[in-house]
Amino acid sequence: MTQAKTHAGKIILITSPKGGSGKSVLSRHLLVSAAQAGIAALGLDFDRQQTLHKWAQRRARTREAFSDFANTPVEPASLLDWRAALRRAEGVPLTVLDTPPSVEDHLPAIHALAEAADLVLVPAVCTQDDVESVAPWVRALTARGLKPTVVLNRANRRTSSFGRMRGLLIKAGAVCPTEIPQLEDIHVPSMKGLTLLDYSKSRGIAPFEELWAFVRREVAL
Ligand SMILES: Nc1ncnc2c1ncn2[C@@H]1O[C@H](COP(=O)(O)OP(=O)(O)OP(=O)(O)O)[C@@H](O)[C@H]1O
Ligand SMILES: [Mg+2]
Repeated sequence: MTQAKTHAGKIILITSPKGGSGKSVLSRHLLVSAAQAGIAALGLDFDRQQTLHKWAQRRARTREAFSDFANTPVEPASLLDWRAALRRAEGVPLTVLDTPPSVEDHLPAIHALAEAADLVLVPAVCTQDDVESVAPWVRALTARGLKPTVVLNRANRRTSSFGRMRGLLIKAGAVCPTEIPQLEDIHVPSMKGLTLLDYSKSRGIAPFEELWAFVRREVAL
């Protein structure tokens, strides 16, 4: 057991070598799911672009006017000092780690975070380009004794490539039984630091609710 796993809180690492695969989207929906379930969750944003952190700052401004939206704090973190970041997770019931796509430049840090995590999620879009980089990444993590779970994102079951690419990912590692479909409106609530889950009547919340149920079971929360 790693040092980080000795504390009671759970850690979810979101990692993919492919830019734009949905790491930050997944991170913010998981943070909102947790907060709505009454679980104090912290986001740590390791990406220098600070997509998740900026989203949380917009959310904090929105919450000043509409406090009924759940609180989802996010702090910036550095892959150069991942130990300090893991210390911030101590005592926090759930910490979600959002990372940049540049995994090759930060392999020791990403490996350390993956080892500290209770669950490693790898979002993947079902295209040739994504699968070409995600499948080897899943295999590389698996070779280190980790058990990453792929989350299919922007899924479109009507395309013939979807099934083919999904099959390749299933051969590389575990795949979450729920996929996130292509949702044209997903970026709209983000402008105010919100997610689809903040609107109970949103089209498209069911897959995120299912993903949260899966995650909760996986990490025993
Ligand atoms: N299921 C989806 N349906 C439609 N658009 C999506 C979906 N998931 C993500 N997107 C869009 O794709 C873009 C990239 O998503 P996101 O920022 O979450 O990817 P990322 O993996 O964090 O990217 P980066 O590697 O640059 O950090 C965003 O504009 C987001 O709104
Ligand atoms: Mg991102």
